[in-house]
Amino acid sequence: MKTSSVGKASETTTTTDGNIPLGSLESPSKTGPDAQILRLPFKGNLLLNCAKKWLNWIACLLFLPLTIIGRLVEAFFAIKQRISRHDSSLEGKVVLITGASSGLGEALAKCLYTEGCKLIIASRRYTELDRVKEQLLGSGLRKGTIYPPVIIELDLQDLDNLADKVRTILGVYGYVDILVNNAGISYRGEVTDTTLEVDAKIMNINYFGTIGLTKAILPSMIIRQSGHIVMIGSLQSKLAIPFRSAYAASKHALQAFSDSLRAEIHRHNIDVTVINPGYIRTSLSLNALTGRGDKYGQTDETTESGADPLQAAYEIVIAIKEKTQELMLCSLFYRLAVFLRAILPNVYFKLMARRAAKSKKSR
Ligand SMILES: NC(=O)c1ccc[n+]([C@@H]2O[C@H](COP(=O)([O-])OP(=O)(O)OC[C@H]3O[C@@H](n4cnc5c(N)ncnc54)[C@H](OP(=O)(O)O)[C@@H]3O)[C@@H](O)[C@H]2O)c1
Repeated sequence: MKTSSVGKASETTTTTDGNIPLGSLESPSKTGPDAQILRLPFKGNLLLNCAKKWLNWIACLLFLPLTIIGRLVEAFFAIKQRISRHDSSLEGKVVLITGASSGLGEALAKCLYTEGCKLIIASRRYTELDRVKEQLLGSGLRKGTIYPPVIIELDLQDLDNLADKVRTILGVYGYVDILVNNAGISYRGEVTDTTLEVDAKIMNINYFGTIGLTKAILPSMIIRQSGHIVMIGSLQSKLAIPFRSAYAASKHALQAFSDSLRAEIHRHNIDVTVINPGYIRTSLSLNALTGRGDKYGQTDETTESGADPLQAAYEIVIAIKEKTQELMLCSLFYRLAVFLRAILPNVYFKLMARRAAKSKKSR
């Protein structure tokens, strides 16, 4: 409304050389229909915006106690669920882990192998997957029956071949009990310097490839009326920070997809768990893409001081056992940031603008 009336003002007051005369918006023509269009919404908008701001603050203050009560109720049910599912075993479950050649995926393979799962480990680099397999077999971590991990070469970017890959995967044991969608790639760059190819690549690996694989496996889970889909999102599934646009967008999309999916497949006895970790000490930033599509090649301080991947994997395995629907695997500080984004978005936007300006200066 405001934009269209300003647009109208520039149409009616533009000079012959195409410039808008100074003061044309402050002192519009006092007669004719344009005058009304200009004056009424201007005053009205000011009052309305002011009232909206105050209403927002009042709503936030009312919302706070409700949120605290809501959190307490959630905590009660989480504890109940934890107690009732504490002893659930993963022994003998067929688990497909994508991105198992390094970092969090490798750590998850270690934990799930120790639990006695029949692992199918997938990613692009066969040699790294083979290293993981040999390390597991030689580790002596598994005390009971040993199921040697099966390697599948998989490029999530290759969307056209996903259905074929899933046929191969399902051919191994005939089904998949738990799909751990862990593979992913990060990004460091500024929106204005980032090619659309880079946005598409990040989106293809983190989102389209991941949901493509999920959709191809899902029918076999529906036939069996059993299954569990685990999505490794990120803190950035909930919060977008500057210079991570492509990554945050892909993880936000994954979060949204997972929330819809969870509700839709509940009736088929298939669970969806979304894990949103904060920083973990892996090669994620080293392998990240820049806006031009090159390898970033640095381990950021935040990643360096991040959580131990094995510790993170251990907590994820507990969440899988308990069929937790969503786990924010990060410190209270980051959880508060998510809360701030939800209840005081304008404060969050200001802080992020400041952060962006500061890191731009220090570059
Ligand atoms: N590290 C963190 O701070 C952090 C925080 C939040 C969320 N996460 C998430 O955790 C997950 C694991 O990342 P990480 O931290 O362990 O990083 P990482 O060590 O770089 O591992 C990424 C994994 O993804 C695989 N991958 C990358 N592109 C692929 C493709 N096109 N097709 C198939 N696999 C591909 C890689 O294997 P190949 O190279 O062999 O294909 C590798 O195994 C990611 O989804 C990431 O977003 C990480």
